[in-house]
Amino acid sequence: MTTHPDYWNQLYRDEGRPGWDMDGETPLVRELVDLALPLGLRPGSQLVVPGCGYGHDAAALEAQGFQVTGLDFAPLAIQGAMHRYGDRVAWSQADWFTTKLGPWDAIFDHTCFVAMDPVRRPAYLESCAAHLRPGGLWLAVLFHHVNGRPGPPHAISQPEARKLAEAHFEVLHLDEAQNSHPRRAGREFLVIGRKRG
Ligand SMILES: C[S@@+](CC[C@H](N)C(=O)[O-])C[C@H]1O[C@@H](n2cnc3c(N)ncnc32)[C@H](O)[C@@H]1O
Repeated sequence: MTTHPDYWNQLYRDEGRPGWDMDGETPLVRELVDLALPLGLRPGSQLVVPGCGYGHDAAALEAQGFQVTGLDFAPLAIQGAMHRYGDRVAWSQADWFTTKLGPWDAIFDHTCFVAMDPVRRPAYLESCAAHLRPGGLWLAVLFHHVNGRPGPPHAISQPEARKLAEAHFEVLHLDEAQNSHPRRAGREFLVIGRKRG
Protein backbone atom coordinates (compact mmCIF):
# COMPACT_ATOMS: atom_id res chain seq x y z
CA MET A 1 0.00 0.00 0.00
CA THR A 2 1.61 3.24 -1.16
CA THR A 3 -0.28 5.10 1.57
CA HIS A 4 1.89 3.44 4.23
CA PRO A 5 5.51 4.32 5.00
CA ASP A 6 6.45 0.62 5.11
CA TYR A 7 5.81 0.32 1.35
CA TRP A 8 8.40 3.00 0.60
CA ASN A 9 10.78 2.03 3.37
CA GLN A 10 10.92 -1.51 1.98
CA LEU A 11 11.93 -0.14 -1.43
CA TYR A 12 14.72 1.91 0.14
CA ARG A 13 15.81 -1.19 2.10
CA ASP A 14 15.66 -3.60 -0.86
CA GLU A 15 17.00 -1.39 -3.59
CA GLY A 16 19.35 0.99 -1.77
CA ARG A 17 19.01 3.40 -4.65
CA PRO A 18 15.41 3.04 -5.92
CA GLY A 19 14.63 3.65 -9.59
CA TRP A 20 13.35 7.19 -9.08
CA ASP A 21 16.51 8.37 -7.31
CA MET A 22 18.73 10.34 -9.69
CA ASP A 23 21.69 10.65 -7.31
CA GLY A 24 21.33 14.42 -7.55
CA GLU A 25 18.69 17.12 -7.84
CA THR A 26 16.37 17.41 -10.79
CA PRO A 27 17.57 20.10 -13.23
CA LEU A 28 14.04 21.46 -12.78
CA VAL A 29 14.93 22.88 -9.35
CA ARG A 30 16.64 25.79 -11.11
CA GLU A 31 13.96 26.13 -13.81
CA LEU A 32 11.08 26.15 -11.36
CA VAL A 33 12.74 28.58 -8.94
CA ASP A 34 13.59 30.92 -11.84
CA LEU A 35 9.95 30.84 -12.93
CA ALA A 36 8.64 31.34 -9.39
CA LEU A 37 10.83 34.29 -8.32
CA PRO A 38 8.99 36.83 -10.53
CA LEU A 39 5.70 35.28 -9.40
CA GLY A 40 6.27 35.97 -5.70
CA LEU A 41 8.75 33.39 -4.38
CA ARG A 42 10.91 35.35 -1.97
CA PRO A 43 14.68 34.64 -1.90
CA GLY A 44 15.65 33.07 1.42
CA SER A 45 12.09 32.12 2.33
CA GLN A 46 11.01 28.91 4.08
CA LEU A 47 10.42 25.97 1.75
CA VAL A 48 9.38 22.38 2.32
CA VAL A 49 10.09 19.43 0.06
CA PRO A 50 7.45 16.73 0.75
CA GLY A 51 8.47 13.16 -0.10
CA CYS A 52 12.07 14.36 -0.19
CA GLY A 53 13.61 10.87 -0.45
CA TYR A 54 17.39 11.12 -0.14
CA GLY A 55 17.14 14.91 -0.08
CA HIS A 56 18.86 15.96 -3.31
CA ASP A 57 16.31 18.64 -4.25
CA ALA A 58 16.09 19.92 -0.67
CA ALA A 59 19.89 20.31 -0.48
CA ALA A 60 19.98 22.08 -3.88
CA LEU A 61 17.33 24.54 -2.71
CA GLU A 62 19.29 25.18 0.49
CA ALA A 63 22.36 25.87 -1.66
CA GLN A 64 20.29 28.53 -3.44
CA GLY A 65 19.75 30.31 -0.13
CA PHE A 66 16.34 29.03 0.96
CA GLN A 67 15.57 27.74 4.47
CA VAL A 68 14.52 24.21 3.69
CA THR A 69 12.69 21.40 5.42
CA GLY A 70 12.96 17.97 3.77
CA LEU A 71 10.01 15.84 4.84
CA ASP A 72 9.38 12.14 4.24
CA PHE A 73 7.48 9.47 6.16
CA ALA A 74 9.92 6.66 5.29
CA PRO A 75 12.60 6.42 8.00
CA LEU A 76 15.26 5.14 5.56
CA ALA A 77 14.67 8.11 3.26
CA ILE A 78 15.31 10.56 6.10
CA GLN A 79 18.33 8.58 7.32
CA GLY A 80 19.73 8.57 3.76
CA ALA A 81 19.16 12.31 3.41
CA MET A 82 20.88 13.07 6.73
CA HIS A 83 23.79 10.82 5.76
CA ARG A 84 24.24 12.59 2.42
CA TYR A 85 23.60 16.22 3.38
CA GLY A 86 23.86 16.54 7.17
CA ASP A 87 22.06 19.34 8.95
CA ARG A 88 22.13 21.93 6.13
CA VAL A 89 18.45 21.05 5.78
CA ALA A 90 15.92 20.47 8.58
CA TRP A 91 14.88 16.84 8.01
CA SER A 92 11.49 15.75 9.26
CA GLN A 93 10.02 12.25 9.37
CA ALA A 94 6.30 12.93 9.05
CA ASP A 95 3.23 12.10 7.01
CA TRP A 96 2.19 14.93 4.65
CA PHE A 97 -1.43 14.23 5.57
CA THR A 98 -0.74 15.13 9.21
CA THR A 99 -2.96 18.06 10.12
CA LYS A 100 -0.46 20.38 11.82
CA LEU A 101 2.72 20.93 9.79
CA GLY A 102 4.50 24.12 8.83
CA PRO A 103 3.43 26.67 7.87
CA TRP A 104 5.86 27.31 5.03
CA ASP A 105 6.14 29.99 2.35
CA ALA A 106 6.39 27.48 -0.49
CA ILE A 107 6.32 23.79 -1.35
CA PHE A 108 8.73 22.24 -3.84
CA ASP A 109 6.91 19.12 -5.03
CA HIS A 110 8.92 16.73 -7.19
CA THR A 111 7.75 13.09 -7.38
CA CYS A 112 5.49 13.37 -4.32
CA PHE A 113 2.12 14.40 -5.84
CA VAL A 114 2.70 11.87 -8.64
CA ALA A 115 3.49 9.16 -6.06
CA MET A 116 -0.02 9.51 -4.60
CA ASP A 117 -2.83 7.18 -5.55
CA PRO A 118 -5.01 9.39 -7.79
CA VAL A 119 -7.97 9.08 -5.39
CA ARG A 120 -5.89 10.90 -2.77
CA ARG A 121 -5.06 13.88 -4.96
CA PRO A 122 -7.79 16.23 -3.66
CA ALA A 123 -6.83 15.47 -0.03
CA TYR A 124 -3.13 15.82 -0.89
CA LEU A 125 -3.72 19.30 -2.33
CA GLU A 126 -5.86 20.22 0.66
CA SER A 127 -2.84 19.34 2.85
CA CYS A 128 -0.57 21.43 0.61
CA ALA A 129 -2.83 24.45 1.09
CA ALA A 130 -3.12 23.80 4.84
CA HIS A 131 0.68 23.70 5.28
CA LEU A 132 1.24 27.03 3.48
CA ARG A 133 1.07 30.57 4.79
CA PRO A 134 -1.53 32.85 3.17
CA GLY A 135 -0.43 33.51 -0.41
CA GLY A 136 2.08 30.62 -0.26
CA LEU A 137 3.21 28.87 -3.43
CA TRP A 138 2.91 25.25 -4.58
CA LEU A 139 5.72 24.56 -7.05
CA ALA A 140 5.27 21.19 -8.70
CA VAL A 141 6.89 18.93 -11.27
CA LEU A 142 4.28 16.49 -12.63
CA PHE A 143 4.34 13.73 -15.26
CA HIS A 144 1.82 13.73 -18.10
CA HIS A 145 3.30 10.48 -19.36
CA VAL A 146 4.86 7.56 -17.48
CA ASN A 147 5.82 5.25 -20.36
CA GLY A 148 2.80 2.99 -19.89
CA ARG A 149 3.88 1.64 -16.50
CA PRO A 150 1.41 1.05 -13.69
CA GLY A 151 1.94 3.69 -11.00
CA PRO A 152 3.45 5.04 -8.95
CA PRO A 153 4.29 7.40 -10.49
CA HIS A 154 0.84 8.27 -11.79
CA ALA A 155 0.50 10.48 -14.83
CA ILE A 156 -1.88 13.44 -14.92
CA SER A 157 -2.85 15.67 -17.83
CA GLN A 158 -2.30 19.42 -17.69
CA PRO A 159 -6.05 20.25 -17.77
CA GLU A 160 -6.72 17.75 -14.97
CA ALA A 161 -3.89 19.22 -12.87
CA ARG A 162 -5.27 22.73 -13.38
CA LYS A 163 -8.77 21.66 -12.36
CA LEU A 164 -7.56 19.94 -9.18
CA ALA A 165 -5.20 22.75 -8.21
CA GLU A 166 -7.85 25.42 -8.69
CA ALA A 167 -9.77 24.09 -5.68
CA HIS A 168 -7.10 25.73 -3.46
CA PHE A 169 -4.71 27.64 -5.71
CA GLU A 170 -4.69 30.37 -8.32
CA VAL A 171 -2.67 28.78 -11.13
CA LEU A 172 0.07 31.24 -12.10
CA HIS A 173 2.04 28.94 -14.40
CA LEU A 174 1.33 25.62 -16.10
CA ASP A 175 3.52 24.50 -18.99
CA GLU A 176 5.94 21.89 -20.30
CA ALA A 177 9.28 21.58 -18.51
CA GLN A 178 12.22 22.66 -20.67
CA ASN A 179 15.19 21.21 -18.79
CA SER A 180 14.16 17.73 -17.72
CA HIS A 181 16.70 15.06 -16.96
CA PRO A 182 17.27 13.13 -20.25
CA ARG A 183 15.52 10.06 -18.74
CA ARG A 184 12.36 12.15 -18.31
CA ALA A 185 12.53 14.51 -21.28
CA GLY A 186 9.18 15.27 -22.91
CA ARG A 187 7.15 13.79 -20.05
CA GLU A 188 7.19 16.50 -17.35
CA PHE A 189 5.34 19.76 -16.84
CA LEU A 190 5.55 22.47 -14.20
CA VAL A 191 2.84 24.07 -12.09
CA ILE A 192 3.00 27.13 -9.86
CA GLY A 193 -0.07 27.84 -7.79
CA ARG A 194 -0.68 30.58 -5.22
CA LYS A 195 -2.80 29.64 -2.22
CA ARG A 196 -6.15 31.37 -2.32
CA GLY A 197 -7.35 33.45 0.56
C1 LIG B 1 8.92 8.38 -5.70
S1 LIG B 1 9.65 8.78 -4.17
C2 LIG B 1 10.49 10.31 -4.59
C3 LIG B 1 11.59 10.71 -3.63
C4 LIG B 1 12.33 11.98 -4.00
N1 LIG B 1 11.42 13.11 -4.17
C5 LIG B 1 13.15 11.79 -5.24
O1 LIG B 1 12.77 12.31 -6.30
O2 LIG B 1 14.17 11.10 -5.17
C6 LIG B 1 8.26 9.33 -3.23
C7 LIG B 1 8.61 9.66 -1.80
O3 LIG B 1 7.45 10.18 -1.16
C8 LIG B 1 7.39 9.66 0.15
N2 LIG B 1 5.98 9.73 0.57
C9 LIG B 1 4.92 9.11 -0.01
N3 LIG B 1 3.78 9.41 0.64
C10 LIG B 1 4.13 10.25 1.65
C11 LIG B 1 3.40 10.90 2.69
N4 LIG B 1 2.07 10.73 2.82
N5 LIG B 1 4.07 11.70 3.55
C12 LIG B 1 5.40 11.87 3.44
N6 LIG B 1 6.17 11.26 2.49
C13 LIG B 1 5.53 10.46 1.61
C14 LIG B 1 7.96 8.24 0.04
O4 LIG B 1 8.42 7.74 1.27
C15 LIG B 1 9.08 8.45 -0.99
O5 LIG B 1 10.30 8.73 -0.37
